Amino acid sequence: MPNTKKRLAVFCSGSGSNFQALFYAIIERALPAEFVLCLSNRPECGAMDFAREQGMETLHLSDKQFGSLDEFAAAMVTALKERHIDYILLAGYMRKVPEAVVRAYADRILNIHPALLPQFGGEGMYGINVHTAVIEAGETESGATVHMVNEEYDKGRIVMQGRVPVLKSDTPEILAARVLECEHTLYPDALEKVLDEHQ
Ligand code: GRF
Repeated sequence: MPNTKKRLAVFCSGSGSNFQALFYAIIERALPAEFVLCLSNRPECGAMDFAREQGMETLHLSDKQFGSLDEFAAAMVTALKERHIDYILLAGYMRKVPEAVVRAYADRILNIHPALLPQFGGEGMYGINVHTAVIEAGETESGATVHMVNEEYDKGRIVMQGRVPVLKSDTPEILAARVLECEHTLYPDALEKVLDEHQ
């Protein structure tokens, strides 16, 4: 029987807790997909360590390795095409995905953002900044959003959202931890939905 599993690349820059949640959910839920590549702008980070532990291919790719952004983008597209990647999952990737890659993978790049888009998105809205802004705005609810990636920051089609309460006693760090826990089930749920839609 031919292998019909979708080939996934994950792009990370940090601890990779979402990547790990996705990795294990794919196995537990027997989803028709497998990670075949972990790409990072940082050769040493939690996500790359986890990928190596799993015997997965890792690729350190940074714009600093190239003479121009166009060359960097072309190298990224080539690397993805050579490995027959079907979907890219951004999981804490702290760089903008080059437009050439977004065009080559239209409707096939997912990202997770730690707030309820379209609010609290856009440039500068990452990490603890997001949760600080949510608390300062007096929101009583926050959450996470999985969306498709297009040329504009945090503006692609929303695939799924998860909600958590914001408590009066919350610090940005406490809220961040609650949202991250929500992300760990939301991202696998969203991946499952996308795989179903594209069947
Ligand atoms: C998450 O909060 C995610 O929403 C954001 O980056 C963080 C990544 O965390 N895009 P981790 O590396 O998956 O632990």
